[in-house]
Amino acid sequence: MTEVQILDKRFREYIPENSVQKRITELADQINNDFEGKEVIFVGVLNGAFIFAADLYRRIDLKSRITFIKLASYAGTSSSGEIRELIGWNEDLKGKSVIIIEDIVDTGITLEHTVDNLIIRNVREISIVTLLLKPAAYKKNIQIDYVGFEIPNDFVVGYGLDYNGEGRNLPSVYALVS
Ligand code: IMP
Repeated sequence: MTEVQILDKRFREYIPENSVQKRITELADQINNDFEGKEVIFVGVLNGAFIFAADLYRRIDLKSRITFIKLASYAGTSSSGEIRELIGWNEDLKGKSVIIIEDIVDTGITLEHTVDNLIIRNVREISIVTLLLKPAAYKKNIQIDYVGFEIPNDFVVGYGLDYNGEGRNLPSVYALVS
């Protein structure tokens, strides 16, 4: 088992790179099928989703665009529950089919905030794709259309996800060794 040290914590490989990539191809195939003939705007949620968004978007063959917003709710290894919106929303999204790209949905607070921001922009439809979902932590009723992997309520890093700013460049997903 591959282990890595990030700052003061040890993490163990949890979803290997090849499994992540295989699953992204499956998610892209589903989205390409489901949205065939539609014009789509993908909205990636920074920072965590930047690698997933890049890998997913390269497999999308729809007439589409991608934009990014930046929010933050995490400090350390547990959700602070507070949302700060830092950058975003300069595209005209009115009447468009939007697909939100998330790296991970934990409590769902970030997702709800993003969805609320889209609703007031009068988009036509909102779909959600996330690489990771923690079902035991998820507290919202918003339907998540495409889920890469359901994971336990453990802290993970890698593939865009960080621990105090580090570890985003790991190609696999790693879980905290307790
Ligand atoms: P939520 O608002 O509680 O759903 O948290 C979502 C955000 O918290 C994600 O976009 C991540 O930035 C961060 N996050 C949640 N769980 C983890 C984790 O296990 N590792 C790293 N970041 C996480």
